[in-house]
Amino acid sequence: MPDMLCSLVKLPPLRERLAALRTDGFTIRRPHPWERESLDAFVRLHFSDTWAQEVSVTFAHQPVTSFVALKDNKEIVGFAAYEATRKDYFGPTGVSPDVQGKGIGAALFLASLRGLRELGYTYAIIGGAGPVDFYRRVVGAQPVPFDDKDGIYRIDEEPGLSE
Ligand SMILES: CC(C)(COP(=O)(O)OP(=O)(O)OC[C@H]1O[C@@H](n2cnc3c(N)ncnc32)[C@H](O)[C@@H]1OP(=O)(O)O)[C@@H](O)C(=O)NCCC(=O)NCCS
Repeated sequence: MPDMLCSLVKLPPLRERLAALRTDGFTIRRPHPWERESLDAFVRLHFSDTWAQEVSVTFAHQPVTSFVALKDNKEIVGFAAYEATRKDYFGPTGVSPDVQGKGIGAALFLASLRGLRELGYTYAIIGGAGPVDFYRRVVGAQPVPFDDKDGIYRIDEEPGLSE
C-alpha cells in the first residue's frame, strides 16, 4: 500500500456535499471529547485496534484532529483522522459498511484536508493508502514514487538517529 500525496492549495468544494448528506440525515463534525470512547468502540468494531489507537492521538490536539460522520446527530457512522500517525498525515478513515457509497467518506476526507491546510501544510500525505482510486478520484492524489520501505510504517529505527 503506497503513501500518496495530494495538494492542499486548491481543494474541491465541500459545501454542496455536506448539504446533500444533511438531507439524508448525515452530518460531519469534529468529535466532542466526551465522544472519545464511543468513537474508539466504533473504530474497533468496524475496523481495527491499531486504527483506534491512531485515532486516540487526535484527542491530544486542540481542536481535535479528527472528524466523525453522524446519523441523525446521534450514531457514529464514519470517521477520519489527520495529524495522527505523524505530522501532515491523513488517516486512518472508515465508513460503516452499511452506509458506504453515499459520499460520507469523501466529505470526511475533504474536511480533514481542510484541517491539514489550516495547520499550514500545502501537501498532505495519505499514509498507507488502501483504496488508491478513492483518493485519486476525490482529490487527484498521486502515489509517492518510493518503495514503502522508505515510509514510516516499516521503520525499525527512528529516522535520523544513526546519521
Ligand atoms: C474508502 C471509504 C472510506 C470510502 O467511503 P465512502 O463513503 O464509501 O466513499 P464515498 O461514497 O464518499 O465515495 C466517493 C467517491 O469515491 C468512489 N469510491 C469509494 N470507495 C472507493 C474505492 N474503494 N475505490 C475506488 N473508488 C471508490 C465512489 O464511487 C465515489 O465516486 P463518485 O464521486 O464518482 O461517485 C470506505 O469505502 C471505507 O471505509 N473503506 C474501508 C476502510 C478503508 O479502506 N479506509 C481507507 C484506509 S487508507
